[in-house]
Amino acid sequence: MAISKRTFDVVVVGAGGSGMRAALAMSEAGLKVAVLSKVFPTRSHTVAAQGGIAASLGNIAEDSWHWHMYDTVKGSDYLGDQDAIEFMCRAAPEVVYELEHFGMPFDRLDNGKIYQRPFGGHMRDYGKNPVQRACAAADRTGHALLHTLYQQNVKANTNFFVEWMALDLIRDEDGDVLGVTAMEIETGEVMILHARATLFATGGAGRIFAASTNAYINTGDGLGMAARAGIPLEDMEFFQFHPTGVYGAGVLITEGVRGEGGYLVNKDGERFMQRYAPNAKDLASRDVVSRAMATEIKEGRGCGPKGDHVLLKLDHLGEDVIRHRLPGIREISLKFAHVDPAKAAIPVVPTAHYMMGGIPTNYHGQVVAPYKTGPEEVVQGFYAVGECACVSVHGANRLGCNSLLDLLVFGREAARQIIEDLARNPHPKPLPPDAAERPLARLARLDGQKEGESVAEVGDAMRQVMQTHCGVFRFPDLLAEGVKQIREVAARARNTVIKDKSRISTRHGSRH
Ligand code: FUM
Repeated sequence: MAISKRTFDVVVVGAGGSGMRAALAMSEAGLKVAVLSKVFPTRSHTVAAQGGIAASLGNIAEDSWHWHMYDTVKGSDYLGDQDAIEFMCRAAPEVVYELEHFGMPFDRLDNGKIYQRPFGGHMRDYGKNPVQRACAAADRTGHALLHTLYQQNVKANTNFFVEWMALDLIRDEDGDVLGVTAMEIETGEVMILHARATLFATGGAGRIFAASTNAYINTGDGLGMAARAGIPLEDMEFFQFHPTGVYGAGVLITEGVRGEGGYLVNKDGERFMQRYAPNAKDLASRDVVSRAMATEIKEGRGCGPKGDHVLLKLDHLGEDVIRHRLPGIREISLKFAHVDPAKAAIPVVPTAHYMMGGIPTNYHGQVVAPYKTGPEEVVQGFYAVGECACVSVHGANRLGCNSLLDLLVFGREAARQIIEDLARNPHPKPLPPDAAERPLARLARLDGQKEGESVAEVGDAMRQVMQTHCGVFRFPDLLAEGVKQIREVAARARNTVIKDKSRISTRHGSRH
């Protein structure tokens, strides 16, 4: 099959916050940048972020990057990279002000400064008392951020490939990365995007669980491409469960609700978080709140006929706060839980939310493999940022609002590094002759396949195994049984066939 080819300085895969922040800096520096996105850029998953961006602006009460760093290290269960965490927390105020200057419509205080709300795990005086650190645009912060960055990218002449999906990384015999193969979703056309630098900003893999706050596009494509290209992934066992997903639907109810004064109750109407975290209560870090909720349910204090969820109360906040600070939550609650939160409590359960692991990088966005032991380990031409990357600033458990911060800080920093690296290497390396061989062979095999199971069925089986065996609590027997079952699912995945409109997920699947 004849394949067309386009050449760019940089190809960015993914148009969420980190991809767009990086693309903006690189386009503004005069590089020719392509951004590939499976969906229209402003529908990338960053759009769903609600609560805010963590930054120690101190607009309401005194704050400092040291306290932010302390909370991040502690929140990570002391498993984050502390140099990277320092880098991120120090840069936080600056990237927020930059965003403000790009036109981000933050909520404002009466004195005109950016509004900040309290959030889980955000404390002052090294963990002593809650502080208002989450810079918010109502409960639609990600939406405002993504639109701001998209508009700036349009102005900077970034080239968008909308509804294009990357298939595989291209590596040459030295192991250097020279771009990607990609497919246009509408037509099935395959193309090579040859680039001097390739930046993955492909997002997380929350959709490997049956109940997830993540968009349907979060299927871990970037991780698959990296793994298939021989790059080992880091910390993949660390998955965060957000305490408040709508019961039965998974849709996120921001922690900002508890920041504004909402709280959780069990079937007896008890504010149970007082027992588990007497100081931070409902604003304890996410793993603490999720475990407490799961324990209440397990010990018979859950709500509803099946006793399988708890309730989030915010009716006492009053119409005004709900209308101004939490308008999106009211909408979500009405639509997905069928309750008006100004009148009744929202049924919630801990829900798969964020992948802390990913493609290993240093804090300049350079991919390091196989281990982080020195500059000689950098994979030339390959960078990763955002949820698909493991820097690792989140360790075993990310602090709320550090995801939007991560996107901005490391998106900007990876761009700086790429600009510097490309100035040293002005000429693209030639493509290897077999650049598109692997994805094309995969497509040909798939087109020849006439019998087999549907992708949707096998995908559902995987999501159920993950949900049952890799949830909030992970006991050895439960995990061992999960490994056995996921191996069976993996075997089934080798015999899938297109029976419906699942063409895209199949073509990217494990058939290699
Ligand atoms: O609760 C939230 O608004 C989520 C924020 C986050 O994941 O950082």
